[in-house]
Formats: sequence, structure tokens, C-alpha cells
Amino acid sequence: MNVTASPEAPVVLDEMDRLDRWAELTLARFLAVEAGLTAGRSLTTREIGDALGVADRHRRIIDRWARVLAGSGLSAFDPHAHRLHAVRVPEASEVGRAFEDTAAVRHCCGPALRDFYRACADQLPALLRDELTVQSLLFADPRTTDEIYAGNAASALVNALTADRVAELAPERGRVLEIGAGTGATTQPILERLPRSVHYDFTDVSEYFLAEARRRWADRGAFDASHYDLHEDCAKQGREPESIDVVVAANVLHNGVDAVATLDRVARLLRPGGHLVMVETGREHHPLLLSMYLLMSPAADRPDELPCDQRRHDGRILLRSNEWLDATRAAGLEPVSLEPSRDHPLDPMAQFVLVAHRPRTEAAR
Ligand SMILES: C[S@@+](CC[C@H](N)C(=O)[O-])C[C@H]1O[C@@H](n2cnc3c(N)ncnc32)[C@H](O)[C@@H]1O
Repeated sequence: MNVTASPEAPVVLDEMDRLDRWAELTLARFLAVEAGLTAGRSLTTREIGDALGVADRHRRIIDRWARVLAGSGLSAFDPHAHRLHAVRVPEASEVGRAFEDTAAVRHCCGPALRDFYRACADQLPALLRDELTVQSLLFADPRTTDEIYAGNAASALVNALTADRVAELAPERGRVLEIGAGTGATTQPILERLPRSVHYDFTDVSEYFLAEARRRWADRGAFDASHYDLHEDCAKQGREPESIDVVVAANVLHNGVDAVATLDRVARLLRPGGHLVMVETGREHHPLLLSMYLLMSPAADRPDELPCDQRRHDGRILLRSNEWLDATRAAGLEPVSLEPSRDHPLDPMAQFVLVAHRPRTEAAR
């Protein structure tokens, strides 16, 4: 993947269009072949879910597909009746050509990620029925997560920006805690910039990532890898409130079902005067509809535990940057910066770094 040369905005837009178009055509054909939603026919999203044998926890995804397909012109959707009408069903050859067109994508997606999307499309029936997990496809090739979290043009940019901001904001003997640090794609550039006098808490809910991190940064000193769940209050997890100078959260806060409540818990961790440096993606690229959407479904025993913030209106899994700005304010944090700027060539990829500050006085909170 080419991340050294910065692409022009039209190139980025063209690449994203190619990926979006392939995903839309794939879904329209999938619904026709697997659920009987052939051209001119209408089905409710419940009928589609039944025809596909969709697990309860994934059912809401069909409604989201319906909204996106309506936006693409391939279908029409009545959101009140949850009824989807197929306007046009692409031939297999058209879907195949659209996938070939994505081979030209160089900056927004690499070959391993493209293969991953294709594998998800091929395995959609099994994924929707919970006979197969997205994780098993995501981690089949380590290059895939690298291309998502570090290797594409936008993630390289936001990781570098995050490292700059954390290095500026962390006091010399301060404490940084990263939530959902995962593969360490953001951790690595931060640790390259941060003096060893700054203590780094690498946290995640998955023991797999924690064990990897302990191995990888065994020599760093002032480094711990430990469990932290953003759904729980910090004190309940044995963490002292107001003990952290900078909280880093890269592509993880959207896991909270209520953005304000999630940010409120993050704010409790911060010392007055401390900062949150968060990375999110504010636009749902359509290949996510047949891949990451399944990862974001609620647990099987809690199928109704869905986002209850702005996302509930249209079934999204991600919030836009302006919605995150509003949520930080509602959680008593003051937004400090939002990067990259709207005129940056990578702005259409919609990955952004938001820095917010916890005021020093409780009155301001
Ligand atoms: C999209 S990945 C983030 C990528 C990460 N920044 C990286 O560089 O790999 C989401 C990460 O958040 C973690 N995660 C998911 N739910 C979480 C929760 N409730 N609390 C904390 N971390 C969570 C996952 O285990 C995963 O490592």
C-alpha cells in the first residue's frame, strides 16, 4: 500500500467510491440470490432476516443495509414499514467487475484488507447465522489489521497526529493510559515520541493483545499492559479516578452504546487539566456493512443492547466528528482540536483526531 506519497483528494474519493460501489452491488445481489429479493419485489427486513436465518443479534444490520441500498439507487426503502423494494439486481459479472475495479485502490485499502472484504462477502450467510466469526477472517492474515489500523493513508496520518499530540500534552513524569490499544498500531508511534519517564498503561479487554504487548515492549520500562473495560467505571476496575494525564483511545470509543456516558467514564480517569486524545472514523465506508458491522453486534445473550445515542436513529455503528464534539461537551470536556482540517486531501476518509480537555474546576465540569 502506498502511504508515503500523499494522494490528492479526487484520488481518495475515487478509491472510496470504488469500494463503496462494490459493497452496494454485492449486498443487492446477495439479497436477491439468498433472500429472494429479486428486481421489482418487496420484503420487510424481518422477512429478509428470516429467509437468511440471521442470528437475533445481527438483525438490525438488515435495516442498515436497506438504508444504504436506498441511497445507492439499487433499492427503495420505507423505514416506517421496514420494507425494502429491489429496483435493480446486478448480474454476478457486474459485481465481479466492481471487485476488479477495487484492485486500483492504493491508498484507502491494501491487498490483504481487500481480500478480507471479499472473504466476508463470500461467507456472509455463515457470518449472519453466527456459524463463523468475523474475527476468524480478520486475524487470518496479520497484514489485514495492519492495513486497517496503521498502513492505510488515513490511519498513518491520524496515528502520527496522535503521537504528536500525546508527546506535547504528557507531562515529563506523567501517566498516559491507552484504552482498547489492541494491535498497538497507535501505541508504537506514541512510544517512539514519548520520553521513558512517562508511564504508559496499555489496556484492552482482550488478554490476547495484552500478552502480545508485554512481549513487544518488555524493554520499555514504565510500561504496563492490563485489563480495562470502557463499559465499566474506572474505580470498579481498581483504577484511581483522576490519576491519568492523557487518555488515548484509538478506534475504540464507538464500542460504548452511549457516547456521552462512555466519555463521562473516560473523564473520570483524567486528572483535572488532563486530556483525552481520541481517534475515530466519522463516515461508514460501505465495505464495513458486510464486515465490521457483524463485529459490532451486541452479545448473543443481549441482542437488544444497541447504541442509544445519535446512532439509534439510523442504525449506524459510528458517530460523525460533530456528534463526538457534542458528546465531549455533554460529558464536561472541552474540545481543543480536531484534525486533519476539512481541506486536507484525506478528509474524505473521515478518520480524525479529537483532543479534549478536562477543565481544572469541578464547576466547569
Ligand atoms: C478497532 S480495535 C482498536 C484498534 C487499536 N487501536 C489498534 O491499534 O489495534 C478495538 C480494540 O478495542 C478493544 N475493545 C473492544 N471493546 C472494548 C471495551 N469494552 N473496553 C476496552 N477495549 C475494548 C478490542 O479488544 C480491540 O483491541
